[in-house]
Amino acid sequence: MLYRLPQTLAIILTFLLILAPSIFAQGQWNWPEKPQNLQVFPSDWSGQRLSAPMRGFTRALGVRCSYCHVGEEGKPLSTYDFASDENPNKERAREMIRMLGSINDHLKKIEPSAAERVNMWCHTCHRGNAKPMTLDEELSAAFAGGGMETALARYKELRENYYGHGMYNFEDEGPLNSLGYKVLEANNLEGAIKIFTMNTEKFPKSGNVWDSLAEAYMVSGDLAKAEEYYKKSLEIAPWNDNAKKMLEEIEKK
Ligand code: HEC
Ligand code: HEC
Repeated sequence: MLYRLPQTLAIILTFLLILAPSIFAQGQWNWPEKPQNLQVFPSDWSGQRLSAPMRGFTRALGVRCSYCHVGEEGKPLSTYDFASDENPNKERAREMIRMLGSINDHLKKIEPSAAERVNMWCHTCHRGNAKPMTLDEELSAAFAGGGMETALARYKELRENYYGHGMYNFEDEGPLNSLGYKVLEANNLEGAIKIFTMNTEKFPKSGNVWDSLAEAYMVSGDLAKAEEYYKKSLEIAPWNDNAKKMLEEIEKK
């Protein structure tokens, strides 16, 4: 008799802690018995069968149901209109499902190099991000929208929120280096030097970042600094022919 007590307790606790809150949180909402507006999933699918893909979408994109459906965040799901096509992200998602189908059809045309075929999923591209932009694209868009300080603020914000999630490339010098060149092309020498300097602090072992900083100083006419940083780049990357060439040019001047 005694040994049964913990088991019963465990069942009750499981219900209270796991099952009950999820039932109440959904405001008694149930998957529709018969969906009304399926255009890409088989039209004879029951609502319940949509549960796995719909939850999969939210995880893959890092969003909630309201991102694609008509409904207000925080309100019970029973107030949502899931059959409506009014939210444009629903149609975007449909096109994505079709695209994913055709990508996987293409993949079937190659002989896989290992026993297991590798498939493509929403999260292969999205990785928890509704708009799967690269860090270069994010910075470029922020720069186009509000200039250098906006781009740097965006970098800081993304790094704080997503570092370690594998969503953006914070692991090498590439993205900040590209931003530095955009700023340089926009004739903001001081800004470019600031960004390249920042990159040398973050990635001091990259020959590339010192080469970029040297280039900005070369443009500014500060040959002493240009020489110092080209030399630094060559120390790290002896194969950097550009640095050799630039040092010869500085020598001539
Ligand atoms: C990334 C976008 C996206 C997200 C997020 C999403 N859905 Fe959907 N949902 C769709 C699309 C697209 C369809 C239509 C599929 C089709 O046309 O075959 C759909 C259809 C449905 C339907 C069927 C409606 C009908 O009657 O035709 C239900 C119910 C539904 N979703 C519930 C949910 C729930 C609940 C969530 C949150 C857990 C959710 N969805 C999250 C894109 C999304
Ligand atoms: C091959 C990569 C790839 C795959 C796979 C993929 N997506 Fe996308 N998705 C993108 C890109 C890139 C964009 C941004 C397009 C743009 O706005 O320029 C995007 C945009 C979207 C958007 C619009 C987001 C917005 O705010 O504008 C939705 C919704 C979406 N995808 C849903 C999905 C779903 C659901 C799946 C799986 C069925 C999926 N995607 C699979 C690359 C992908």
